[in-house]
Amino acid sequence: MSGASSLLTWQDFPVVRGMRAARLRQRPCVLWFTGLSGSGKSTLAGLVEGTLFSQGYLTYVLDGDNVRHGLCRDLDFSHQARVENIRRVGEVSKLFVDAGMIVLTAFISPFRKDRALVQEMIGDAQFIEIYLDAALDVCERRDPKGLYRKARDGQLRHFTGIDSPYEAPQRADIVLDTSTASPARCAQIIIDYLQKGGWLLPQASMPHPAVNAAVNS
Ligand code: ADX
Repeated sequence: MSGASSLLTWQDFPVVRGMRAARLRQRPCVLWFTGLSGSGKSTLAGLVEGTLFSQGYLTYVLDGDNVRHGLCRDLDFSHQARVENIRRVGEVSKLFVDAGMIVLTAFISPFRKDRALVQEMIGDAQFIEIYLDAALDVCERRDPKGLYRKARDGQLRHFTGIDSPYEAPQRADIVLDTSTASPARCAQIIIDYLQKGGWLLPQASMPHPAVNAAVNS
């Protein structure tokens, strides 16, 4: 695949990110969840999104399984395909941040180098890395999709943690041990982090629908 050719010219438009963010009254960013399959990425992304959305922020979750139904349906789980998967998700996240949104991504994203590339692509200041540090045996016991069992039985190859590596972040912004802390507690830690970091500008005091009871419990 080639990069942008010299025949292409970047086109600027009059409406820019800051204008869209100001209209939404929010600071766009990416909450990048990384961790083993079964570590709780989708669960937590959903909980945090629910809370933020209920408070009036405009959010979007990009989820590994979902994105692989469409944008990345041509990709398997080889090393090269995972690199491309994360590159595409990084580019989409960048567009969503440009659109003014708070983006939550839930991908194993096993390789340090690829996460660093996305961080660079999006901009260090807007990229919040959240490492769900649950031990492999805990994830394997949870096995919500029955995939660890298939991998152990040899029916599934290149499964992360079994016969494909996971490179843990060395300097994640938030590290959560999801084997000991409840999803609600982990979600609260993330919301507190965003509040302390000044990410959550006050929203206009109009009522916003609660997403579901679990989000607010
Ligand atoms: S990533 O490695 O490229 O970041 P991604 O998050 O998109 O992975 O997809 C992971 C999801 O795909 C897992 O939650 C699981 O449901 C499913 N899956 C299917 N095969 C594999 C595999 N070999 N390794 C990891 N996950 C797999």
